[in-house]
Amino acid sequence: MIRSQSDRFLGIIITIYFFFYLISLPNTLASPTRSLCRSDQRDALLELKKEFTIHSNDNGHETTVLWNKSADCCSWEGVMCDATLGEVISLNLISETANTSLKPSSGLFKLQHLRELDLSFCHLQGEIPSSIGNLSHLKHLDLSSNQLVGEFPASVGNLNQLEYMDLSVNDLRGNIPTSFANLTKLSELHLRENQFTGGIRVLANLTTLSIVDLSFNHFKSSISSGLSGLHNLEQLWVYNNSFFGPFPSSLFTIPSLVDIVLSENQFEGAIDFGNTSSSSKLTNLDVSYNNFDGPIPESISKLVNLENLDLSHNNLGGQVPSSISKLVNLDRLYLNHNNFGGQVPRSIFKLVNIEYLDLSHNNFGGPVPRSISRLVNLSSLDLSYNKLNGEVPHCLWSSSKLNSLDLSYNYFNSFGKSVELGTDGSLERDWDLSSNSLQGPIPKWICNLKYFSFLDFSNNHLNGSIPQCLKNSTDFSMLNLRNNSLSGFMPDFCMDGSQLRSLDVSLNNFVGKLPKSLINCEVMEFLNVRGNKIKDTFPFWLGSLQHLTVLVLRSNTFYGPVNNPSAYLGFPSLRIMDISNNNFVGSLPQDYFANWTEMSSVWSRPIRTLDYKRNIRIPGSNYMGDRKNNHKDSIELVY
Ligand SMILES: *[C@@H]1O[C@H](CO)[C@@H](O)[C@H](O)[C@H]1NC(C)=O
Ligand SMILES: *[C@@H]1O[C@H](CO)[C@@H](O)[C@H](O)[C@H]1NC(C)=O
Ligand SMILES: *[C@@H]1O[C@H](CO)[C@@H](O)[C@H](O)[C@H]1NC(C)=O
Ligand SMILES: *[C@@H]1O[C@H](CO)[C@@H](O)[C@H](O)[C@H]1NC(C)=O
Ligand SMILES: *[C@@H]1O[C@H](CO)[C@@H](O)[C@H](O)[C@H]1NC(C)=O
Ligand SMILES: *[C@@H]1O[C@H](CO)[C@@H](O)[C@H](O)[C@H]1NC(C)=O
Ligand SMILES: *[C@@H]1O[C@H](CO)[C@@H](O)[C@H](O)[C@H]1NC(C)=O
Ligand SMILES: *[C@@H]1O[C@H](CO)[C@@H](O)[C@H](O)[C@H]1NC(C)=O
Ligand SMILES: *[C@@H]1O[C@H](CO)[C@@H](O)[C@H](O)[C@H]1NC(C)=O
Ligand SMILES: *[C@@H]1O[C@H](CO)[C@@H](O)[C@H](O)[C@H]1NC(C)=O
Ligand SMILES: *[C@@H]1O[C@H](CO)[C@@H](O)[C@H](O)[C@H]1NC(C)=O
Ligand SMILES: *[C@@H]1O[C@H](CO)[C@@H](O)[C@H](O)[C@H]1NC(C)=O
Repeated sequence: MIRSQSDRFLGIIITIYFFFYLISLPNTLASPTRSLCRSDQRDALLELKKEFTIHSNDNGHETTVLWNKSADCCSWEGVMCDATLGEVISLNLISETANTSLKPSSGLFKLQHLRELDLSFCHLQGEIPSSIGNLSHLKHLDLSSNQLVGEFPASVGNLNQLEYMDLSVNDLRGNIPTSFANLTKLSELHLRENQFTGGIRVLANLTTLSIVDLSFNHFKSSISSGLSGLHNLEQLWVYNNSFFGPFPSSLFTIPSLVDIVLSENQFEGAIDFGNTSSSSKLTNLDVSYNNFDGPIPESISKLVNLENLDLSHNNLGGQVPSSISKLVNLDRLYLNHNNFGGQVPRSIFKLVNIEYLDLSHNNFGGPVPRSISRLVNLSSLDLSYNKLNGEVPHCLWSSSKLNSLDLSYNYFNSFGKSVELGTDGSLERDWDLSSNSLQGPIPKWICNLKYFSFLDFSNNHLNGSIPQCLKNSTDFSMLNLRNNSLSGFMPDFCMDGSQLRSLDVSLNNFVGKLPKSLINCEVMEFLNVRGNKIKDTFPFWLGSLQHLTVLVLRSNTFYGPVNNPSAYLGFPSLRIMDISNNNFVGSLPQDYFANWTEMSSVWSRPIRTLDYKRNIRIPGSNYMGDRKNNHKDSIELVY
């Protein structure tokens, strides 16, 4: 998943870059040049054209095929020349499907005056020939998104005019060669999604570097404090490598630094912001999925421009320092999956701009302070897997912005007092209050919250009947009331063309029949009524639900035959049916096993889980949507 998102991100980078490319052409090229192409340059281009085995890109556009010998090569598409000398200085064949490797003798390397070369998305294969070193005037090199293999040729050290290098999304391996130290003008280095190994000490002298993206490689080394000499560094992304050891505090103090992503490595030790000045420009700090330990240092308060702070999935602990309240620009704060304890820190509730707050999987205890109501812009709150108790703060119910709420696996015992609810009917809600100690009936005021995509009250002590209104929420995708003490009749779900995909009312005390309205649940995939007191015949009529994959009737008082020769069998998508522990009689016709073809594929393919929200995470400051909330149905299977 991460990969596909990074592809999307790459698309953004490329688009942005392409724009830059268009506006950054040398002045001499501003008007269509009439100067004649030098014949050696033309011949080199024609050689290159011959090397490309396929002459069209994915859109069927054929750039090189249109190169016409009898026209001036400086006018060929993708080619630009120096106006006076007729030398090719820019070649842009982005998305031309070459499907070939670059030979060391390729015509390309005769274009020695090239300043810009873009062969991204060209299906280039094989190694980068060391002849690349011939293109010593290159300022801009983009070979990203090909199938290049092998190591960096050491001759890359000849490209000492290079300002921009993008080799992302290839299969390149090996170390960054020492000759790299020659690239003293390099400003952007994009190597993401390759197999590079070793360390990055060689970058320490490239003081012009401002953007470095090494994400998704196999770099394995500690990070030297020597890198703190990179005084132009703005963005450092080393997401998903094997960097280890402490992260030098001196790097955090680089004044130009805006965006740093260390996540998914093996960094360890305390996080230390050193002598960071309060003029730090840092807006994004992501150290998630490492082994950092110790407390959050007080000095974090100096990073006043932080908008995204992600310390999740480490071994950090202790109390959250109250100085965190100085980070007034923070809109995303992730402290989840650590060992923080004590009361939920009130200092966090002074960060009034917060939209995403995740404190889950820690040891926070006690009630949630009421001052959480100050977070008026909160749209996603995750407090799950802590030891919180008492009332659910009622401001959470009435918030008009909070669409994702996860309080599961705590000890909340009360919904709090009933609340005035805002009238904005359109907020789509996604609430998980499962595995708490909630008691009493489901409050009626919940009916005023119209749009639920997901509501989970499972594993609580709720009693009484389901408020009739819940059947009306047109946007329900998933309703889980499993393992409570709810009673009465099941309401007429899906009366109004509901989007209900998953309904779990198992382990309650429901009586009566299955509501016939379920036949309207056209997108239903999962229905579990196990462990109630439902007294009904086999619901052949549910056979018309085209997507029903799991049907569990187990441990009720269903009765009568399970075969009905006169009825059309249906259930075309059924994979799991559990009718055990009922009063069914008769035989199971062979037809069932022959016609329910999906069943035989259960064990060869995993059951499709229902993803209600896309879990889109892009390393760095761009979190699109909420990173958790992949709700999944679950049942127990017994042999
Ligand atoms: C190349 O250009 C010449 C003159 O403009 C034209 O006659 C010829 O058909 C073109 N050849 C191709 C292959 O397009
Ligand atoms: C590209 O080349 C490989 C072999 O090098 C071949 O298997 C593949 O079919 C080619 N792709 C296209 C689109 O021609
Ligand atoms: C590289 O440049 C040298 C001269 O500088 C030239 O002799 C050689 O042919 C070039 N190599 C290629 C592959 O074009
Ligand atoms: C570094 O660049 C110089 C030219 O500035 C060149 O002579 C030298 O060979 C290059 N070194 C490496 C290791 O490529
Ligand atoms: C960086 O430059 C210094 C002095 O110019 C030199 O001694 C050192 O070896 C260089 N480091 C690297 C990694 O190239
Ligand atoms: C990097 O990503 C891959 C695939 O997403 C994952 O399996 C691996 O554990 C990650 N590496 C680290 C160090 O987290
Ligand atoms: C921290 O920085 C301040 C001013 O920038 C300086 O006065 C102080 O000596 C520095 N402290 C350390 C330990 O480097
Ligand atoms: C909440 O968000 C709105 C709109 O995005 C913004 O105008 C407002 O300043 C924010 N409120 C606070 C307290 O940050
Ligand atoms: C529901 O539970 C509460 C306490 O948990 C109890 O006082 C009440 O009588 C119960 N109501 C019903 C209808 O069982
Ligand atoms: C039902 O919920 C209680 C907590 O309310 C939990 O302890 C128990 O394990 C759950 N039972 C099942 C079968 O999930
Ligand atoms: C369900 O919605 C309809 C209008 O769509 C409304 O008339 C009816 O009262 C609602 N029923 C309940 C129980 O909320
Ligand atoms: C099973 O499928 C066969 C062939 O598609 C059909 O003739 C038969 O009626 C089906 N059986 C049932 C019970 O629907």
